Amino acid sequence: MIYFKNNRLNIIYKKSLSYCKKFGSHCVGHDYRHTTRVLDNALFLIKRMKLQNQINFKVIIASSLLHDISRSYGFCGLVHGLKSFEIIKLFLKQELNFNLGELDLIKKVMTNHCIEDVNLRKTLEEKIIYDADKLDGFGVRGLWRLSIYTIFEREEGLRGIWNRIVYKMPERRKNLHFKVSKMKSHFLLLFFI
Ligand SMILES: [Fe+2]
Ligand SMILES: [Fe+2]
Repeated sequence: MIYFKNNRLNIIYKKSLSYCKKFGSHCVGHDYRHTTRVLDNALFLIKRMKLQNQINFKVIIASSLLHDISRSYGFCGLVHGLKSFEIIKLFLKQELNFNLGELDLIKKVMTNHCIEDVNLRKTLEEKIIYDADKLDGFGVRGLWRLSIYTIFEREEGLRGIWNRIVYKMPERRKNLHFKVSKMKSHFLLLFFI
C-alpha cells in the first residue's frame, strides 16, 4: 500500500486499485500485482529524476493501475492500451473527476504504452509509464511473467520464450526513454533479480 500526503491522490489511488482488483484479475501476469509494481517503478523514476513538479501525479497513478485492464476482457497486442482507456473512460470521468485535458493525456499514455515506437511518446507521463511498465519485464520476475504470457496467452511454447528473451528483451531495453530506466534494467539483467 502506498500513502500519498495529498488526499485527492489517495482517493484516486484507492479507487483505481480496487477497480483493478475487481475487474482486472482475469489475466495472469497483468493483474493488480503487475500494475502496482508499475506504479512503484513510475514513482521511483519520478523521484530519481526529480520530476515531481513537472508531471501530473493523478494521471500517473490512474494510468499505472489501469493501463492493462483490457487484458482481463480478452484484448492484447497493439490495441490493448486504447481498449483499456475505452473501458475505464466513464469511471475516470464520473468516479475520479478527471477533466477533459487529463482524460486526453491518460488516453495517450495508455494507448502508447504498448506500441514499440520510441518517437511516439511526447509527454513525460507517456515516457514514464512506458518505462515503468517495461521495467517489470526484466529480472527473474520479468522472466517468469514472460514465460506465463508466452505459454498461456500466446500459446507459443519454449521457442516463443527463447525468441522473446533473445530478440525482444534487448529491443525493449534499447527503447527505454530514460538513462535511469536503462541503468535499472541493466542491474536487473545483470543480477537476475
Ligand atoms: Fe500492457
Ligand atoms: Fe503493463
